[in-house]
Amino acid sequence: MIQVENLKKSFKQNENDIDILKNLNLQVKKGEKVGILGQSGSGKSTFLSLMSGLDFPDSGDIRINGVSTTKLSEKEWTQFRAKNISIVFQQYHLVGHLTALENVMLPLEILGVKEKQAEEKALTLLGEVGLKDRAHHFPYQLSGGESQRVAMARALITTPNLLLADEPSGNLDQETGLKVMNLFFDITTKFNTTTLLVTHNEQLASRCDVVYRLSQGRFEKL
Ligand SMILES: Nc1ncnc2c1ncn2[C@@H]1O[C@H](COP(=O)(O)OP(=O)(O)O)[C@@H](O)[C@H]1O
Ligand SMILES: [Mg+2]
Repeated sequence: MIQVENLKKSFKQNENDIDILKNLNLQVKKGEKVGILGQSGSGKSTFLSLMSGLDFPDSGDIRINGVSTTKLSEKEWTQFRAKNISIVFQQYHLVGHLTALENVMLPLEILGVKEKQAEEKALTLLGEVGLKDRAHHFPYQLSGGESQRVAMARALITTPNLLLADEPSGNLDQETGLKVMNLFFDITTKFNTTTLLVTHNEQLASRCDVVYRLSQGRFEKL
């Protein structure tokens, strides 16, 4: 489903080019969950931004579902992302002036799905994450764990081909984080969602089908 080949990315820091990703290779099958560990600053978030087309590699290629993404224009990437890829961030990134329900509906509206249909599906997803009774709450009225569950429902409503998660429990206390991640694993397994999970937590990573450590700009299979 996913082929990453010889991916390279460097950033300019004080006149110097620092090679963050030196040569990344990765193959992921449909429905597979890949855990990615690595120290702070090792390039995990950079890798996910390349996977989602929010940033572009210096060289190498990422193929998703047979599409060679380096050949996409920025506009084509935007459409491709909307249809195929969802992201869950550490900081939830809910839209503050929209209710939980409206946040979850958003990706479908971007794809042009009719409001009634989007609402029905969003309510179902909110049910899946145990938040039907919070549908009309605004983000400021939700706890961290609830916010991340809304973000998960929003990520899954399009049944994405690829789910990217960047330390999704990083902002939560241990107990809440564990509950949210149990739900995360249950739901992605149920939906057979191909998932890249970046985490600091080795125990969480070990619940994935395969685990890599990003170190010195390369993946090391654990
Ligand atoms: N847009 C950018 N410009 C310059 N340097 C960047 C940029 N984004 C990330 N970096 C640098 O790349 C390195 C990897 O960052 P990041 O991918 O966020 O690491 P991680 O998510 O593993 O903690 C860091 O040294 C960071 O400072
Ligand atoms: Mg990061």
